[in-house]
Amino acid sequence: MIEYRNVKVALLGAGSVGSQVARLLLEQGDDLAGRAGAGLELTGIAVRDLDAARDVDLPRELYTTDAESLILGADIVVELIGGIEPARTFILQALNSGADVVTGNKALLASHGPELFAAAEQVGAQLYYEAAVAGAIPIIRPLRESLAGDRILRVMGIVNGTTNFILDRMDTLGESLDDALAIATDLGYAEADPTADIEGYDAAQKATILASLAFHTSVPLAAVHREGITGVTHAQVEAARKAGFVVKLLAICERLTDDDGADGVSARVHPALVPLGHPLAAVHGAKNAVFVEAEAAGDLMFYGAGAGGVETASAVLGDLVSAARRHIIGGPGLAESTHANLRVLPMGSVSTSYQIALDVADQPGVLATVAGILAGHGVSVETVEQTTVPKESAGVTRADPAEATATLIIGTHRARESSLARTVADLTTEAVVNSVTSVLRVEGA
Ligand code: HSE
Repeated sequence: MIEYRNVKVALLGAGSVGSQVARLLLEQGDDLAGRAGAGLELTGIAVRDLDAARDVDLPRELYTTDAESLILGADIVVELIGGIEPARTFILQALNSGADVVTGNKALLASHGPELFAAAEQVGAQLYYEAAVAGAIPIIRPLRESLAGDRILRVMGIVNGTTNFILDRMDTLGESLDDALAIATDLGYAEADPTADIEGYDAAQKATILASLAFHTSVPLAAVHREGITGVTHAQVEAARKAGFVVKLLAICERLTDDDGADGVSARVHPALVPLGHPLAAVHGAKNAVFVEAEAAGDLMFYGAGAGGVETASAVLGDLVSAARRHIIGGPGLAESTHANLRVLPMGSVSTSYQIALDVADQPGVLATVAGILAGHGVSVETVEQTTVPKESAGVTRADPAEATATLIIGTHRARESSLARTVADLTTEAVVNSVTSVLRVEGA
């Protein structure tokens, strides 16, 4: 039997992920040691309340409320507390004491990433965070290592399982957003306060992490354009399916060229129409997937569980094995690279295509008026579909034929967001347009 040197592992937090990490460390210690070339000795688990109920039965003597002593005696600190404080202070303490850190804390990385990376680099320590984006799915390491020799053009992901679950039920079962959200809450996908998920904050945090890694550029959270799913209606989802699309909440990080021809990047989160033939359209339920377009590698797709205690523990343990191996073998490890330092461009610089639904007067010349407004802003029409609304719809009898209305669905070619915004503003105030009922971006076409 091989005798391995032990590395001391301190675990901070015993929630759904932390308790599974501890269980797997204890149950699979020999295997993990064989892979790491080091014994992984769990020296303790720091918790706030020693008597709290736990998901997993672990030896009681492992628990402590003295996080600082645990951190100072560790070679590797695994932070699974979540939130900003005290997680930030604990991670800085760990790095400053020379320990490597494994974390799954997306909120902290999204808001304080540069500070933590700088602290790690200063002391030659490593910060691993595979679990911070898309749970069990390996996406951080592929972007950070496997694709380090390539040029990433675009990262487009379904990175929030709760919203994918809701939109999928609206699409496949015809449920309303509120009903689907209630089920997501019952099943434990959505929190009691679902704001972070349904308003896109969670996905925006993940987008800032992915964009910074993919483009070797620090992309601040404040620069991520964010729209949630609360404005998505059953009618939009139904119309989308009829037109060959499915509505998904996407996090999109892409390389752009601005109006001056300079390279830049953008990151955005919003609902979008995805063609039914695109691989992301086949991501159902609470699953996550990240679609990467790279210059040399072409298209790549990473799919799987984006949350869950034991699933996310897999990502944490992968990082832990790497950290333990480096601890024994040594070497500089990886530093976060922001060498490209590209301009982070505003949403107005983004270019995509759109589906615009309008309720218009059904009179001669309306189509020409609407087309003229689009043309005036350089937005080119690709498709137009008109449905005449029966005069006696919804119990309303329109005596005057001039009051007849029609629904126009206009598909555009690619246009800048800034041009589209001006187009929609003009359509909204145009007399023959009763209302702009829906504007959705089309992605992946
Ligand atoms: N709340 C997230 C989701 C999981 O629904 O995907 C944690 O990132």
